[in-house]
Amino acid sequence: MRTPNTAPTQGELERQNQFMQKIAALNEKMERKPRFFINTFGCQMNAHDSEKINGMLQKMGYEPCNEEKDADLIIYNTCCVRENAENKVYGNLGYLKHAKKDNPNMKIALCGCMMQQPTVIETIRKKYRHVDIVFGTFNLYKLAELIWTNIESGSPVFDIWDKHGEIVEDLPAVRKYKYKASVNIMFGCNNFCTYCIVPYVRGRERSRHPDDILKEVRTLAADGVKEVMLLGQNVNSYGRGLDTEITFARLLRMINEVDGIERIRFMTSHPKDLSDELISAMAQCDKVCDHIHLPFQAGSNEILKRMNRRYTKEHYLELINKIKTAIPDIAITTDIIVGFPGETPQDVDETIDVVKKVRFNGAFTFIYSKRTGTPAAEMPNQVPEEEAKANFNRLLDAVNPIVYELNQKKVGNTYKILVDGVSSDPLYVTGRTEDNTLVHFKGCKELIGEIVNVKITDCKTFYLIGELQ
Ligand code: SAH
Ligand code: SF4
Ligand code: F3S
Repeated sequence: MRTPNTAPTQGELERQNQFMQKIAALNEKMERKPRFFINTFGCQMNAHDSEKINGMLQKMGYEPCNEEKDADLIIYNTCCVRENAENKVYGNLGYLKHAKKDNPNMKIALCGCMMQQPTVIETIRKKYRHVDIVFGTFNLYKLAELIWTNIESGSPVFDIWDKHGEIVEDLPAVRKYKYKASVNIMFGCNNFCTYCIVPYVRGRERSRHPDDILKEVRTLAADGVKEVMLLGQNVNSYGRGLDTEITFARLLRMINEVDGIERIRFMTSHPKDLSDELISAMAQCDKVCDHIHLPFQAGSNEILKRMNRRYTKEHYLELINKIKTAIPDIAITTDIIVGFPGETPQDVDETIDVVKKVRFNGAFTFIYSKRTGTPAAEMPNQVPEEEAKANFNRLLDAVNPIVYELNQKKVGNTYKILVDGVSSDPLYVTGRTEDNTLVHFKGCKELIGEIVNVKITDCKTFYLIGELQ
């Protein structure tokens, strides 16, 4: 792993453009355009990075394809937040070894969070020699140069940095959806929750300048985007370290003024930094959706302390009260971990107590996964798998009936739905309410990208069924 000796700047983007052009010239001479396939693991940060990779590759003259087997260039954008995310990547890579025997011209590139771990790089060098290009989370913008180096040298190219340079603006990106888009407002994380690998693989927290963010949002709006999702590991600390005085609440108010944008979402909020100023901004900005994703992770104060979350159960519940008072229709979703080292069934009772008091509209529930290099991996009393599973099931039994009840209350009401796509039954389309609940209803694909009124007629635990009005 190396430290970048030159910080990337806007001039660097120009340099990368030149590599993109050189590759495009090569690709133009081919009988057909070479095809690429990106397999994205992990969170919305990675999904958005994949949109940038997509944008750069199309500029280089590659075209996307729908199936891995048809691709000349396969990219795995990896995640390492839990062990099973890593295992999936290794499993797929094993399979690609055979695929490459059948098609020796196939190129394989790996990037993303998993690649920031030296042990992973060692494993790939030793056991997965069929990989051609490896890069990390800090030098994504160099993709063209890395591909060029690989073509010229004919040898594998590994380029992983151990920390970030400056933020490179204006990378081309191809959005998955025409009418909704993700926008990074910050990168990295400084919180070091003791179970979490993200700060080690995504580096220190740095915010984008509000002018750059607004410029991007305006460009998106001009291109037909109606919904933006503002992304950061902890959006509530947005603005720290910038040379201009700004908070996340103020940024929301500025984006709320952009013509053409109809819905604003954001994730993730950390409870320790959630301010009253943000709650008022959410209540007052008409475009900010009535939904907040506020992970609480655990209900026991002892566990929260050892997780280094820096809030208590009481503080979290108080925050929820404030939010519900200011925005009565708000939908609240969360992340919960079960099986953190030393967690007892009584600690899990505290977690279940929070679930029952808050009544979440949805929860991502995880069994703790030991991540080498994090403080929690060294803690005594790692919880046996069986015990963690039993507690996990108890938690689900508390979460799911509440989600169902809250959905059931929506039956009979009419909501504005932004239509996302065709459902598995082609007569139906899917979309989301402002509070992010998934809705299926009869409709044609021409509705995709429109905001329509849908009356809810039935509900399941994880989605609603409705009729177009
Ligand atoms: N920055 C966000 C979360 C990013 S990771 C936040 O702090 O809210 C998404 C979720 O993965 C976390 O909220 C946590 O619930 C879960 N997670 C992170 N590390 C984990 C681990 N080692 N084992 C199990 N779940 C984990
Ligand atoms: Fe991980 Fe905590 Fe940072 Fe979220 S806030 S990314 S859980 S260290
Ligand atoms: Fe996201 Fe996974 Fe990285 S959750 S930040 S892709 S480790």
